[in-house]
Amino acid sequence: MKKRSLALFLVATLSMGTLIGCGDSDKSGDSNASGSSSESTENNKKGDKIKIGATIYKYDDNFMSYLRRGIEKAVKSKDVDLIINDSQNDQAKQLEQIDTMIAKGVNVLAINLVDPKAAPSVIEKAKQNDLPVVFFNKEPDENVMKSYDKVWYVGTDSKESGVIQGKLMIDDWKANPEWDKNGDGKVQYVMLKGEPGHPDAEARTQYSVEEFKNAGIDTEELAIDTGMWDAAKATEKMDAWVSKSGEAIELVICNNDGMALGALSSIEKAGYNIPIYGVDAIPEVLEKIKADKIAGSVLNDSKGQAEAVVNLAVNVANGKDPLEGTESKLDDKKAVRVPYVGINKANVNIAEETYK
Ligand code: BGC
Ligand code: CA
Repeated sequence: MKKRSLALFLVATLSMGTLIGCGDSDKSGDSNASGSSSESTENNKKGDKIKIGATIYKYDDNFMSYLRRGIEKAVKSKDVDLIINDSQNDQAKQLEQIDTMIAKGVNVLAINLVDPKAAPSVIEKAKQNDLPVVFFNKEPDENVMKSYDKVWYVGTDSKESGVIQGKLMIDDWKANPEWDKNGDGKVQYVMLKGEPGHPDAEARTQYSVEEFKNAGIDTEELAIDTGMWDAAKATEKMDAWVSKSGEAIELVICNNDGMALGALSSIEKAGYNIPIYGVDAIPEVLEKIKADKIAGSVLNDSKGQAEAVVNLAVNVANGKDPLEGTESKLDDKKAVRVPYVGINKANVNIAEETYK
C-alpha cells in the first residue's frame, strides 16, 4: 500500500539524519500546513511562528480523517505552522514521532493517542521540554490529566452520544410497530462496539441500551462484539450474525458510522432490511440516511473539535489563557467538550453544515 512505502520513506529519511521540517513538501506522509504569514504574535518572544506538533492515531479511520482535515483547515486562519503525523495505530511509532517533533522545535503538542493509557509517556516528554500538550479524541485518565499543569483535553462527553443514540432509536421504535418483527414487545438487537477500553466505545455501548430500559422497553442482546471502529471488521461480524440469525435481528446498534456502513453492506448483501444506527454523522452516512438505508446517527462535530484543538494549542503556546478568544468552557477535568447532536432524515442539513 502507498502508506507503507511512505512510512519506509520516512524511516529512510530520518535515518539519514534529515528532519522533515516545516514547509517541506508532503512526501513523508506527514503534512505541513501553514497559516497566513502575517506578523508573528506578540507573546511569541523569539518572533518565530508558533509550531504545532500533532499526531492522529491513524489516518485510516473514517472519523479521524475529518477531524484531521478540520485541523488542517483551522490552522489556515492562524499565523502558525503545523506538523501532523499518521501514527498508523502504533503507539511506539507515535512516541518516536513526538521525539522528532520536539527535536524540530515545536511549541506545543496536539496528540490523538493511539492508546489512551500511553498519556503518561507523552506527558513525561512534554515536561522535560516544558511544552504544553493538548490531547484530543482519546481521553486520558483523570489522575493523568492532573499530573501536569500544562495539559488539556478536547473531545466530547462520551455518555451524551449513547443517550442521544438511544433516544433516536426509541422514537423510531415507537413510531414503527412493524420493527418488532416477532411481536414480543422486546427489541432483539446486535451491537457493534468500538475499540474496547476507549471511553467513547464503553459509554456508547452502555448508555444507548440503558435508554431503552429508562423508557420501559425490554431489550434482548442477540450478539455483541467489537468491530474496532472499522467498516471491514464490522462487515465480517455482521456477515456471521446475519447468516446465523438474520430473521431475528430487529435493530443494529453501532458505536460509530464506519461500522454502520460495514453492517449495511453485509445486510444489503443478505437481502435484509434492518434499521441501523451509528455515531459521527460523517458525510458518507448522511447520504445513506437521505436514501433511507441508515436510520440515524449522532453528530460528532469534527469541525468544532478541530477548531477547539487549534485555538487551545495556539493560546497555550503563546502563554495566553487557554480559552482566550473562544466561547469554549473547560470542565473540572481540564477538558473542552463539544456537544453531540442527534441526526436523522429530518435534520441531516445540520450535520452537512459542519463539513462545508
Ligand atoms: C469516533 C470513532 C473513531 C474514534 C477514534 C470516536 O469518537 O466516533 O468513529 O473511530 O473516535 O478514536
Ligand atoms: Ca421483538
